[in-house]
Amino acid sequence: MSATENYSIRVEPTKESRLSQVDFNNLKFGKILSDHMLVANYEDGAWTDVSIVPYGDINISPSMSAIHYGQAIFEGIKAYKFQDGTISIFRPDKNWERFNTSAARLEMPEVPEEIFLGGLKKLLSTDSNWVPNAPGTSLYIRPFMFGTEAALGVHPSNSYKFIIITSPVGAYYSNPLKLKVETHFTRAAEGGVGFSKNAGNYALSLYPTRLANDEGFDQLMWTDASEHQYIEEAGTANLIFRIGDSIITPHGDTILHGVTRRTIMELAASWGYKTEQRRVSVKELIDGIKAGIVTDAFAAGTAATLTPIATIGYEGELFQLPPVEGRDFSKKVLTYLDDLRYGRIADEFGWNMIV
Ligand code: COI
Repeated sequence: MSATENYSIRVEPTKESRLSQVDFNNLKFGKILSDHMLVANYEDGAWTDVSIVPYGDINISPSMSAIHYGQAIFEGIKAYKFQDGTISIFRPDKNWERFNTSAARLEMPEVPEEIFLGGLKKLLSTDSNWVPNAPGTSLYIRPFMFGTEAALGVHPSNSYKFIIITSPVGAYYSNPLKLKVETHFTRAAEGGVGFSKNAGNYALSLYPTRLANDEGFDQLMWTDASEHQYIEEAGTANLIFRIGDSIITPHGDTILHGVTRRTIMELAASWGYKTEQRRVSVKELIDGIKAGIVTDAFAAGTAATLTPIATIGYEGELFQLPPVEGRDFSKKVLTYLDDLRYGRIADEFGWNMIV
């Protein structure tokens, strides 16, 4: 039996589509959910009941393990519509791999390719009319899995739900970012779960982020747990800098290994830029800004796409990055990625998965 013949995916179409109620000219991130979702259950060591059903509430037990002990992971992926109506998902194979890496760290089962990628393709063909095609819009895809066992003892759940929901979206951030270097709170420590995309990493960021928001910042720039001297990521996205003639991104197991970050670093290397994945100290960045050698800086993520950083706050001082209009590297990346994702240029790296 081939890898694509193990699971049959049942489709129960909605009786009442909500599509006509959607204002595609006014898409707020994650507020509108498409008509269908994919749901699969894991019980007794096997995935069962893989089905595409109308989007809607699900029943859970108050003693469900994920609520109490946090076995919950997710991914963020985007699908785009070409001019001719073709639907293409951007590098979902990389998200599938990372999802299973997160699952292993949280002692959760793997989701097979046929359910994750095969199910995703089938879900998008069912909801193909939900993929927007205006410039800057896409269908945001949120696969997630959580432990469903009703039990209060601390142990890995013996049952799980894997679900994919989708949402037509525009930009996550509409303006260049003002980021605060966080020097007190910690997102992730060596040996922890920083590299995994689990719900807890986002829960712990909310309070420090709110404090930064109160000071007028959009987001935090997390630093390492032991010294708070090395830059990690922004929590909702990775960080990439152009310092001197190098394109540099912080690296290590305390940060999420983003698919957009990886894509941009691969592109930069293929265009002949010097690329580095390494520790970047706050001092190197601030000194570089002062010396005028930091010529580009941006957040990179599925939701964030590529959002320029305008200002960095560190120990009460504000440091301005060069004007966004003059940033050649990020402009070149954005143009290339837009052209590729909307099918306007050849897919030379094989990154578009056509539905
Ligand atoms: C994504 O970029 O897909 C993310 O998951 C970040 C999100 C929490 C906004």
